Amino acid sequence: MRFSRRRRGAALAVAAALGTVVAIAQERSSDNRALVKALPNNFPQINPNGLSATFSTQGFLDLTGEYFQAQGSNGRSCATCHIPQNAWSVTPGVLRLLFDQTGGTHPIFNPLDADNPNGDLSTVEARRAGYSMMLARGVFRRGGAPRAEREWDVVGVDDPHGFAAPDRIVQWRRVMPAINFHLGSATVAWDGGNTVGVDQLAGLVNQATRNVTGAQQGQPAPPDVINNIVSFETSLSTAQLLSFSAGLLNAGGARGGPQELSQMTATAGRFDLFDAWIDSPVASRASIARGQELFNSPNPGNGRSCNGCHSSANNGTNFENLLFDIHTAAAEARTPDLPLYTIRNRVTAEERQLTDTGLGNVTGLWNDLGKFKVPTLRALSARAPYFHNGIAAGLLDVVHHYEQRLNFVFTDQQRQDLLAFLGAL
Ligand code: HEC
Ligand code: HEC
Repeated sequence: MRFSRRRRGAALAVAAALGTVVAIAQERSSDNRALVKALPNNFPQINPNGLSATFSTQGFLDLTGEYFQAQGSNGRSCATCHIPQNAWSVTPGVLRLLFDQTGGTHPIFNPLDADNPNGDLSTVEARRAGYSMMLARGVFRRGGAPRAEREWDVVGVDDPHGFAAPDRIVQWRRVMPAINFHLGSATVAWDGGNTVGVDQLAGLVNQATRNVTGAQQGQPAPPDVINNIVSFETSLSTAQLLSFSAGLLNAGGARGGPQELSQMTATAGRFDLFDAWIDSPVASRASIARGQELFNSPNPGNGRSCNGCHSSANNGTNFENLLFDIHTAAAEARTPDLPLYTIRNRVTAEERQLTDTGLGNVTGLWNDLGKFKVPTLRALSARAPYFHNGIAAGLLDVVHHYEQRLNFVFTDQQRQDLLAFLGAL
């Protein structure tokens, strides 16, 4: 039994119409005021697998707060890069749309994130080429000088964009979904670079403060502005609301969707959203429930479970604030557009090749090189591509990564079930 074709067609039509409304929600008047000032809770946003939505404990999404105001000199606000229809990240598709609408002059395109800030960005075609990493992969340029105290040195650099150097590390990073913090870890940013001990709130304050003077090129913001921003982002629960094949994700005793998520409290443990569907006569629901079991269970290939690292129940961050090296920055996983660094241990002279230093440039420790934050797994369908550098174009590529690099083993049926589960989060 499946969701009927007619209902699916109707859902698509409604969602497409709503998608237009949301595009309008991004529109600003000539004096930069939001034209749509609010969105209701659970307002659906279309994505390839269905609809995602956000539930805010503030009662609705106020699109006029400080999060939506440009705080600096370059026209960017938090919401320039963290947008509701992409689960508060931003996808390459939206970036290409914004590029085409403005010839690459929208504030999201700033030399700060160009392939090479010294390159030619003077014409539309030069900008199209010069922002290729954002447009192709949805990644933004981070990095800078390696931290002073460290156990390693960069002894070789191969940067296809000609900007990285031994004293200037370039790290290409996806916009993280700034959501689900009430179940999230204290680690802030892919490499933990904005973390403040185990104090999540302090980490988020630190992140917002630094973003205003960094990506937004502004003067330091007053504390009430930062507090307004952090209150907004910590009110957000975002998740897939509806699956085209399985219907509403909180139907039939299941607990998917953003509203259920907002009512959960942080705990370590298995995902149990879809337990009620394990014997469902609806094939797509049973498949999602089987995928959840695969996610929770030790895998025969390596004895590990997905849930072992993604341990915050029903969210997927790491409950102990640990970061891991899952070979996403390894030379073997490199795509030709990423830089490759040869890094030497100062004591042992051992060498590693990585496309990003990860936690190792935050702590300076050799053993932390290539480690990254375990991100929330909710609303995945709204925000491909995946991993910090966007090397996995879709969820199937994520699963293949785990099979190739971490020795997970799945049958074809299991892979389908796992994908159904991930797509319904
Ligand atoms: C130019 C685009 C851009 C703007 C503007 C921007 N961000 Fe981000 N944000 C990113 C990127 C890229 C990352 C991932 C960076 C990294 O980890 O290296 C990120 C990461 C984050 C994270 C970390 C999430 C996590 O799970 O650890 C938070 C929180 C966040 N941003 C909030 C904000 C807030 C609040 C603002 C406004 C003050 C803001 N961002 C403005 C691009 C942006
Ligand atoms: C050893 C710890 C570990 C295990 C085991 C693990 N993950 Fe992850 N996962 C991570 C880390 C760390 C990241 C972020 C890596 C990066 O972006 O470079 C991640 C990222 C992801 C992402 C991408 C999220 C995003 O926002 O881009 C998905 C999806 C995911 N994992 C699913 C799974 C599944 C499914 C399994 C089991 C097959 C699994 N993980 C097993 C640590 C782990």
